[in-house]
Amino acid sequence: MIIDDSILQKGERINLTLRSLFSECGYEAYRMSKFEEYDLYARNKDFLVSDNVITFTDTGGKLMALKPDVTLSIIKNSKDVPEGCRRVFYSENVYRVSKSTGSFREIMQTGLECFGAVGMKETAEVIAIAARALKVLDRKAVLDISSLALVEKIAEDLGIGAEQREGFFKALGEKNVSELKSIFKDCEGKTLGILADLLGTYGPVKDVSAKLEDLFSGYSEEGYCREFFSLLEELQKSSVSDIINVDLSVVDDINYYNGIVFKGFIGGIPEAVLSGGRYDRLMRKMGRQSSAIGFAVYTDLLEQEDADKEEQDQGFLNVALPKGRLGEKVYAMFEGAGYECPGILDPGRKLIFENPDKKIRYFWVKPSDVAVYVERGTADIGVVGKDILLETDADIYELLDLGTGKCKMCVAAPKGYEEDASGTLRVATKFTNITKKYYQSKGRDIDIVHLNGSVEIAPILGLTDVILDIVETGNTLRENDLEIKETVIEDISARLIANKSSFKFKTNSIEKLAESLGRQAEERP
Ligand code: PRP
Repeated sequence: MIIDDSILQKGERINLTLRSLFSECGYEAYRMSKFEEYDLYARNKDFLVSDNVITFTDTGGKLMALKPDVTLSIIKNSKDVPEGCRRVFYSENVYRVSKSTGSFREIMQTGLECFGAVGMKETAEVIAIAARALKVLDRKAVLDISSLALVEKIAEDLGIGAEQREGFFKALGEKNVSELKSIFKDCEGKTLGILADLLGTYGPVKDVSAKLEDLFSGYSEEGYCREFFSLLEELQKSSVSDIINVDLSVVDDINYYNGIVFKGFIGGIPEAVLSGGRYDRLMRKMGRQSSAIGFAVYTDLLEQEDADKEEQDQGFLNVALPKGRLGEKVYAMFEGAGYECPGILDPGRKLIFENPDKKIRYFWVKPSDVAVYVERGTADIGVVGKDILLETDADIYELLDLGTGKCKMCVAAPKGYEEDASGTLRVATKFTNITKKYYQSKGRDIDIVHLNGSVEIAPILGLTDVILDIVETGNTLRENDLEIKETVIEDISARLIANKSSFKFKTNSIEKLAESLGRQAEERP
């Protein structure tokens, strides 16, 4: 019987295409059980995207889990490969908590792993297959690669201590210059120059090779540096060189990955659809001596792909601005950068404005929603307070501190209030996550009352003992007879953020605008 492939659903078709590609490249199919002993995940919790795992007790009384990840199972069930390499591919469902709904979802993942004596040749092979996997969709695609080994070495030489490592890599992953500057605030200009180069080194291999050589000149004799350069050279010769970019801000968990890491993006999909790297550290952690490299394609994201988005976009840059005082100030900066939009400040209920000559489209949205529009890719860039970014922990690039909308986050209470340390502290706030984190770090037992605004009224009416909120001029506190008890976050201001995928495909227009906004922020008294 010949199967009519028109009956295939989009996800099935993508899966079959990827599986055919992996098989054609010499990888063998690997099939595994849906279940795994829970202990595997309990021991490797940090490797998982989320701590939540669906568990159940099997007929023998053992605690089992529905797989939240594939790589851990493959390593667990495979032996060291003393010579050559073992190459496998898989197509499996994993069960993870979705960030948006907070509930479990079944997600299809298709990927491959290569274990054994993994050298430059195998690394180049796997990256080229990853690039081909992106290309089979016949859409605009980019594969960004970096060398974690090199970036780690630079971090070490810049004097990053163990306690700053996590913050450093997070800031690097967000292209967050202002955060990096604050980590290195006591450092000299040379260090800041290196950091700017680390973040600024982005683009096709041929365009950035001179910059890379300059940045890594002190390491040219080191094995990992030579490996990175030979890899780039090798990839340049491949048929997929046109979609391979270097981006030193690509980071992954440094406790598991080492050496090369990479992420793939497809135009119109707001987040990385492919992620992979060399994970020898995870292999050692699981008692294996072999090296390994692999990647996974998140086929569920490809299913959602909106092929019409680019057409609707017509090359416009979509900007989410926060409605209100801050938005108006910030719009003036966009206007100063040459991106004016007639009528945008006219009072009325219209929320979308565009200037076709400048290819710019603005959306006025609630300040607390800006990060959502940008993370989901509806807006390519946006302006949002650092308070909202910390609260939502959005996966975006934080490109610039605009130096406006400055305020701090404080705990405040009615004048004369004395905290009773023996009881639960009742806190009213719009910032539930920040509040939880802050009091957890102090080991204080609290009860949070989430409010959407006019928080100051809560302790006056006896709803709570204190509030945790932003303070700009201090007028609201004064007029309601409240006073600051503690400062939770000192430097809050408006930030320019970008969707990670949009940044790949609209790099020039986003960078040009960011540069101009950056100049204006610096010139401001
Ligand atoms: C913010 C914040 C404070 C006030 C602080 O409220 O929640 O209430 O501004 O500013 P100030 O120190 O200059 O007085 P917002 O104006 O966003 O209104 P909301 O309370 O309704 O959220």
